[in-house]
Amino acid sequence: MKAVVFDKPGGPDVMHIGQAPLPDVGEGDILVRIHAAGVNRADILQRKGFYPPPPGASPIIGLEMAGEVERTGPACRRWNTGDRVFAILPGGGYAQYVSVDERLAMGIPKGFDFSDAAAMGEVFLTAFQALYWLGEFQTGERALIHAGASGVGTAAIQLVKADSGTALITAGSDEKLAACRNLGADTVVHYRHEDFQEKVLEATDGEGADVIIDVVGADYFHKNIECLAMDGRLVILALMGGKKIDTFDLSWLMRKRLKIIGSTLRSRSLDYRIALTRAFSKRYLARFESGELKPVIDRVLSWERVQEAHSAMEGNVNIGKIVLRVS
Ligand SMILES: NC(=O)c1ccc[n+]([C@@H]2O[C@H](COP(=O)([O-])OP(=O)(O)OC[C@H]3O[C@@H](n4cnc5c(N)ncnc54)[C@H](OP(=O)(O)O)[C@@H]3O)[C@@H](O)[C@H]2O)c1
Repeated sequence: MKAVVFDKPGGPDVMHIGQAPLPDVGEGDILVRIHAAGVNRADILQRKGFYPPPPGASPIIGLEMAGEVERTGPACRRWNTGDRVFAILPGGGYAQYVSVDERLAMGIPKGFDFSDAAAMGEVFLTAFQALYWLGEFQTGERALIHAGASGVGTAAIQLVKADSGTALITAGSDEKLAACRNLGADTVVHYRHEDFQEKVLEATDGEGADVIIDVVGADYFHKNIECLAMDGRLVILALMGGKKIDTFDLSWLMRKRLKIIGSTLRSRSLDYRIALTRAFSKRYLARFESGELKPVIDRVLSWERVQEAHSAMEGNVNIGKIVLRVS
């Protein structure tokens, strides 16, 4: 089959479409003919050689895809040849075919094309997991979402608003702030010109946010702690602004009864990913069909333009998802 391959780690130009072996299909797996694959920040790290796939996962880049079931393993019960599915993957999305445990696949909502579906899995499952399973978000609470216009951010804003919450976001351009407002964000902070700590405290009558979804890490750590409410939860999903802090006064944790949680979805066990997929589908899939929730898509490119897709994401220009059309 054809797949995006690279011989050595490096910039976007190391990637090209080449050949890779067709994946094995286990007893409970489905072989999916991929029509579209979502691009994720982790793909860039993998291409640079910093984020190897977990043991047993495909070495091909790509954490999510949408396509049609081509073949089912002998123990499969849920899907038939020709069904339209999407799923998160530990790897293998930038290819013509992928083999995936049938319990990780979700049916593509009615009216959604493959590109829409390829833009949903990774960011909505991540936002759902971060808000509810890790951040213990409760109806009506206040969530501060950093990188609000990112794929994960645009999903998190929608989930918070769908649960009567208050969404406060940070982003780095006026266009990104406007996009977040359109999704329902209540308070938007242009972090290049404004102090998010001040704005968050002002917007919450000095109390702070109940949950923070952070992808910046060190650069935001102290301010995050300052603008968490009592019993607040800080969920760290990425470290785009550094991984080391010089000092930290632990008494903050005691005085405000805070929790700090870090996580990566890709490294989670198969059982965990299946349970997350099931909980997400049950709660939300119908709400995509009704139009309440939607993937925010920045652009869809043919996978021949995978280099351009990675350059755009590395340049921080995308609002929402970049999707590759696979042929
Ligand atoms: N742990 C997990 O399980 C998990 C799962 C999925 C994704 N993630 C991580 O979550 C993050 C968002 O993913 P995504 O695919 O949604 O990303 P994305 O769409 O590429 O958006 C990332 C945005 O973050 C902002 N940013 C970049 N560097 C920054 C910095 N140093 N300080 C502040 N903002 C910065 C930029 O927007 P501005 O213009 O607003 O600065 C950029 O466009 C990524 O780091 C990804 O690796 C983690």
